[in-house]
Amino acid sequence: MRIMNGAALAKKIRSVLSIEIDFCKNKYGRSPKLSVILVGNDPASMTYVKNKGKACREVGIEDDLHFLPFSTSQDELLELIHQLNEAPDVDGILVQLPLPKHIDKNVIISAIDYKKDVDGLHPMNVGLLNTSEDCIIPCTPKGILSLLKSENVTIAGKHAVIIGRSNLVGKPMAQLMLRENASVTVCHTKTRDLSYLTRQGEILIVAIGCPNLINADMLKPGAVVVDVGINSVDGKMVGDIYNSIDVPSIEQKASAITPVPGGVGPMTIASLLENTFEIYRRRIQ
Ligand code: GUN
Repeated sequence: MRIMNGAALAKKIRSVLSIEIDFCKNKYGRSPKLSVILVGNDPASMTYVKNKGKACREVGIEDDLHFLPFSTSQDELLELIHQLNEAPDVDGILVQLPLPKHIDKNVIISAIDYKKDVDGLHPMNVGLLNTSEDCIIPCTPKGILSLLKSENVTIAGKHAVIIGRSNLVGKPMAQLMLRENASVTVCHTKTRDLSYLTRQGEILIVAIGCPNLINADMLKPGAVVVDVGINSVDGKMVGDIYNSIDVPSIEQKASAITPVPGGVGPMTIASLLENTFEIYRRRIQ
């Protein structure tokens, strides 16, 4: 069984980006800039946002982090988004999710200028993806597709089974796989007989956030397995699949798998950097 090393590919993408960004900075006189907003102090979100900032700085993207108190009102957040929409030097805007319950996530996402929506969550980008037009693609599905392609996984004609239907991963992943000419099944919490469906998956993408959801019996022999899950079990980071109990039997069954950590996570960040640079290039030319 092959380990699909997202960390290694992400490193390659970052080093190419650094060179391109340096070239553009000299040519156009300014660096790309990503604004990231976090409302509240959820520890996991705080870590994600700081990691995004650090990843930006390492490739020469200016990071502009806004840490707002939990008590921030929807109108105050909208005001900041309007300012960033208008700011000529801001290329990408990302509002870290989840947001506090008193703020309507859909109102906030729709308020971001869709041309600066690095997350690809604005309804305009969602619609453009669904009609296979040029758009900003959500970072995790984009990263997974890049990783599968770099591993020479054939997608056209394959049956891709996706577990999860979130706007961040499951739904855009399904659209991307369709665009690549896979047949696609999307499963979720109401799906009956999940094992029957997972056993059909030549490419199985699991994005639920539930440790030990998938065991070796649920895999099709030779499946390519992508584990998007991030779960903390006894202080250790595990995915939805790859865990200490079932590793040997999964290794016998799958032909390739993404490890957790070091698989999808670094590719999500690499795709965020790519999206930011792509938006910058469109805006500056
Ligand atoms: N929360 C967890 N993942 C993400 C992501 O990719 N983008 C945003 N905005 N929030 C998240």
